[in-house]
Order: sequence, then structure tokens, then C-alpha cells
Amino acid sequence: MFKEKIILRIPGPTPIPPRVQQAMNRPMIGHRSGQFSQMLSDVAEKIKPAFGTAQQVYVIAGSGTSALEMSVVNTLQAGDEAIVTISGAFGERFAKICERYQIKVHRLEVAWGEAITPELLQDFLVQHPMAKAVFATYCETSSGVLNPIPELSKVVKKHSNALFIVDAVSCLGAVPCEMDEWGLDIVVTGSQKAFMLPTGLAFIAVSQQAWKRIEQITPQAFYLDLKAYRKSMADQTTPYTPAVSLVFGLEEVVAMLDEEGLPQVFARHELMKNMTRAAMRALGLPLMTEDEYASPTVTSVDPGDLFDAEELRKILRTKYNVVIAGGQQHLKGRIFRIGHMGYCDPQDVLTVISLIEVSLQQIGYEITLGAGVRAAQEVLIQHG
Ligand SMILES: Cc1ncc(COP(=O)(O)O)c(C=O)c1O
Repeated sequence: MFKEKIILRIPGPTPIPPRVQQAMNRPMIGHRSGQFSQMLSDVAEKIKPAFGTAQQVYVIAGSGTSALEMSVVNTLQAGDEAIVTISGAFGERFAKICERYQIKVHRLEVAWGEAITPELLQDFLVQHPMAKAVFATYCETSSGVLNPIPELSKVVKKHSNALFIVDAVSCLGAVPCEMDEWGLDIVVTGSQKAFMLPTGLAFIAVSQQAWKRIEQITPQAFYLDLKAYRKSMADQTTPYTPAVSLVFGLEEVVAMLDEEGLPQVFARHELMKNMTRAAMRALGLPLMTEDEYASPTVTSVDPGDLFDAEELRKILRTKYNVVIAGGQQHLKGRIFRIGHMGYCDPQDVLTVISLIEVSLQQIGYEITLGAGVRAAQEVLIQHG
């Protein structure tokens, strides 16, 4: 086995395309140079279609959580009320960030594996009319649920004046996002998922309505002050030293997304989801999410008492260099999650399914070898 040949199928970080890797190896340039300014404003412009916005997209040196925190600390102040919708670990993170800043959080929570529905949110909005913001997670990575963001947004706009703030860290660039059309006020994401880069960049786009609120607030954070980024970006620069090499990589990523075409990128992710789900079903493995809310970027499987998910992951990792994710928090040790996002295609999906089958057999769980692969192949063939 080639030790360095890792098949990384977790829901982020995801594999880096060779041309992106090469771009990041370019010699360093001055971050206040005209060359960097030009590159930054180009990529910030070219990334807008992935957000579905005409607004400026800000590129932050930080992991996704920095943008989550930015969306909280710039829009709310201590004592304000907010609704946080929680369908898993990352919704809970939003709540924790809010609480750190003494924001009064109303948690709208569903079981992991379920989605937040517009009906639930509507009732909750009526119960909490003072909420100044509603936070939602587009893809809840811990369960593989894709929450119905456009429908949730409609409900927020109809029943409140709250800002609607969306964590799209584990799906933006892999699924449609129409920030302006859907009325989203803030959308945040990170670099190490569908954007096929290493961890280290966060992105945030802000509506005009959100800016009105932001302008009234002096945030209790220095590095994450959005107004500083807006001021600098007007001069094609950043307030603090940017992650120059990651921006070299990003330049390549936006070119790749453009060459494939966003609709095709979304269709590829949809296909990989359908292949993975068909395979798991054919193998009799219980999926954690309904088809309606299944994310195109990550599939969670809950084997229950059928076999030990950790034993499966261990064989995959040690014998075949395939890395899939386990569960988080209370699902740690119980479920497994297959990432199919970013630099990943149907060929990769067939490989991982095939090796899951082999590994299941090797941990003593009887399956019909090839049943999952066959089901996935059929989805692929039907797709054409
Ligand atoms: C939905 C979601 N939100 C937020 C984060 C946090 O991002 P980071 O780990 O880059 O801070 C993640 C990371 O996995 C995520 O999947």
C-alpha cells in the first residue's frame, strides 16, 4: 500500500486538486502589492455566483468558525434575543457563540437526522417575537441533513424583522445558494469543504439589510469587525495580513468551478449522493436522513447493532487508506459519515463503496459482495 495515497472521504477537509496545490506553492508576494490586490478583488468577484449574490464577499484568514462568530458579533449585542435552529453539532455551535456574547438564545431543536421545517420555525417565531436574528445551518455536517433554507427564509421574512443568518460551511459551492433571491442576510462558509482548499479561509457575504444593523454596532471583537473588512475591501485589500498562498489556491478553485459550470458541479454532487444512498440501501445499512433532506455533500449511516461503525472505519483506514468520518458528540462511535464533496467524482464514490463492502466482510458482517457497487453503478448509468 502506498502510505501517502490517502483516500480522504470525510466531510472536510477534502482532497486538494493538483492544480490548486501547485498554485499554492507559488513564491510569496507582498500582501500590499498591486498584484495581490488585483487577485483578491478578482477572486472575491468570481466567487459571488456560488453565494448567489451581488454583494461583496469578504475573504477572512480563519477557519469557518471565525465567520460564524463574525456573523454573531457584528449583528447582535449583549442582551439581544436570537433564535438558533439546531439540527446537530454546528447549530449548537452557533448557540454557544451567541451565549459567549451574552445573547439570549432561543433554541429550536430537532433530533439529529431530522431537518428544521418551515412549520416549526413559524410557530417558534411567533413565540419569540423579540428575536433580532435567526441562525440556521444549511448542511448540518454532523447528521448529513440539508435544511430547507429558501423555505425557512420565507418564513423568517414573513413573520419577523429578524436577520436570517446561514452557516453554509459544508455545502456552499456544492449545492445551489441564491442569497439575494432567497433573502438571506448573511451567508458564511469555509475553504476546506466544497472549495477544495486547505483549512484557513472563511468567507462571508452580507445583505444591505444586515449592514444597516452592523453599522449601529461596535462589535466586542477586534479581528472579526466586519466594518474593517468592508473599509479595506473598498481599497482591494484586507485589514490584516491575508493568507496569500490560500488566495493563490482560491484563484485556481474559482477557475475550476467556472470551467465545470456551477449547475454541473451541483449535478455531480447530487449524483454522488444518490449513488451513495442507493449503495447503502442495497447493503441494508440504515441511512440517518430522509431523501427529502439528504445533503449532496455527506451521507450518514447508523448501523445500530448491526456492526461496530468504529471497527469498519478502522479496517478502511489501516488496510485500505480510506478515511471516512465517525459520529460527533452523542453519536461518536455509533455512526459513520461518507464525505462526497469538492474534488470527488462518481469514480471515487464507486471506489469507497467497494472498499466499504470488502471491509464489512472482513469485520464479519455478511453482505452480498457487489450489491452496493451495483446499485451505485445503476444510478450512474441511469444518469447517463
Ligand atoms: C456546518 C459547519 N459549520 C461550521 C464548521 C466549522 O468550521 P471550522 O472547523 O472550519 O471552524 C463546520 C466544520 O466542519 C461545519 O461543517
